[in-house]
Amino acid sequence: MNVKSVIESETTYTELMIPAYANFSGKVHGGILLSIMDKVAYVCASKHSGSYVVTVSVEGVEFLSPVEVGDLITVKASLIYAGRSSMIVGMRTESFNPRTGENRHTNSCYFSMVAKNDDGTLRSVPGLLLKNKTELIRFCEGKWLKEQARVKRDTLKSDIFGISIEEMHSMVSGENCRIDSALSEDQTA
Ligand SMILES: CC(C)(COP(=O)(O)OP(=O)(O)OC[C@H]1O[C@@H](n2cnc3c(N)ncnc32)[C@H](O)[C@@H]1OP(=O)(O)O)[C@@H](O)C(=O)NCCC(=O)NCCS
Repeated sequence: MNVKSVIESETTYTELMIPAYANFSGKVHGGILLSIMDKVAYVCASKHSGSYVVTVSVEGVEFLSPVEVGDLITVKASLIYAGRSSMIVGMRTESFNPRTGENRHTNSCYFSMVAKNDDGTLRSVPGLLLKNKTELIRFCEGKWLKEQARVKRDTLKSDIFGISIEEMHSMVSGENCRIDSALSEDQTA
């Protein structure tokens, strides 16, 4: 079995948050951070696979505190799971204010990446050499995340969109929405 260690693809990247990245009140747009994280996930996964990779899904993005213009954001990425062609990259983003010395955890999330050959077909990736208990735990977390993502996709395809209009009425009851009278009359919509 061809394996590579976690450390071989570990990636750390730091970037200064400039005014062009921010809204009118100086807070950096979430999409800018996502774009930076996506590139770092690409670097990490392509180092492990030795190939071109694509982003398939992102799990758990949650911005815990705002990032300001002038902050230095650091993204730390490491592979937590390797499947046949897929890899899960664990990402941690911190923002550092150089004037105050304050360092804040901004986001932790998981990027699923898939390795492809030049002709677009799926490419097998090396396995992950797990050298300590933390790496073993993280690999198990990755396997669980992959399984949960599959269950969620199957559920969305079958259960949610397969339920009756009456069940949907009851599902949204008490939620912050109002069913328009035209929709109430059109039970086939
Ligand atoms: C993701 C993609 C490769 C899946 O192709 P597919 O023919 O359905 O292949 P499979 O179902 O065999 O999935 C291939 C691998 O991706 C994984 N995968 C598929 N969908 C996934 C999802 N939504 N989340 C996480 N992993 C996923 C599978 O588990 C499988 O992993 P494994 O090889 O390690 O077992 C294909 O849909 C694709 O190329 N999407 C476009 C991705 C892209 O271009 N991204 C850039 C943004 S524009």
